[in-house]
Amino acid sequence: MEMLTIAIAKGRIEKDLLCILKEIGLGASIDPKSRKLVFIDSDVQIKYIFVKPVDVVTYVEKGVADIGVVGKDVIVEQEGNIYELLDLNIAKCHFAVAGPPLTQIYNPNKRLRVATKYVNIANKFFEDRQQIETIFLNGSVELAPLIGLSDVIVDLVETGNTLRANGLEELEFILESSARVVSNRVSYQFKFEEINKFVEALREWRNNNDQNPTAK
Ligand code: PRP
Repeated sequence: MEMLTIAIAKGRIEKDLLCILKEIGLGASIDPKSRKLVFIDSDVQIKYIFVKPVDVVTYVEKGVADIGVVGKDVIVEQEGNIYELLDLNIAKCHFAVAGPPLTQIYNPNKRLRVATKYVNIANKFFEDRQQIETIFLNGSVELAPLIGLSDVIVDLVETGNTLRANGLEELEFILESSARVVSNRVSYQFKFEEINKFVEALREWRNNNDQNPTAK
């Protein structure tokens, strides 16, 4: 059996995924309280590496990790050359355009200023709709329209609490996001058996715990 390396996005997905792994009898070596970034379940030959969400696609695309678990948001933004194998239906949220109430988004005579961490997604959404100027920010983007840096934001919405707390509202829905299992294209061919075993165990968990069984 070949060692399978799995890159896990730290943060929101990590917490849920560790519970799932436990439920399907994996991840015995992982100590969530430790600062270590690499753990190995030697009995099943699985290595887990914990990386920043934005880096998961890079690790998988370069083949340093065979598989990754990461949000659809990151996958869409990064457009990596990888396979998407499974929607885990956890860490669900969606992208939206948001701003102060009644903000006029569409105006053929004016460029809309959009603050976001997701420049590609913003550009793609507005491509045929409205001329925009994107302003890249690394986080706390809700601040931008409040202090006049932008007219609107493109960001993830989960509960809507952050928008509400800052007096902003959702103006346009863009797309759904949830955690996905992705694979390196070459690994998928050469470690098909190992990858498939892991993915099918997760799929079974997903199907038993799913409110949306139509997901792929
Ligand atoms: C994300 C997102 C929003 C918030 C949405 O930020 O960018 O700010 O969560 O969640 P809510 O709808 O439940 O309030 P995150 O906490 O990941 O930090 P960031 O602002 O640094 O991106």
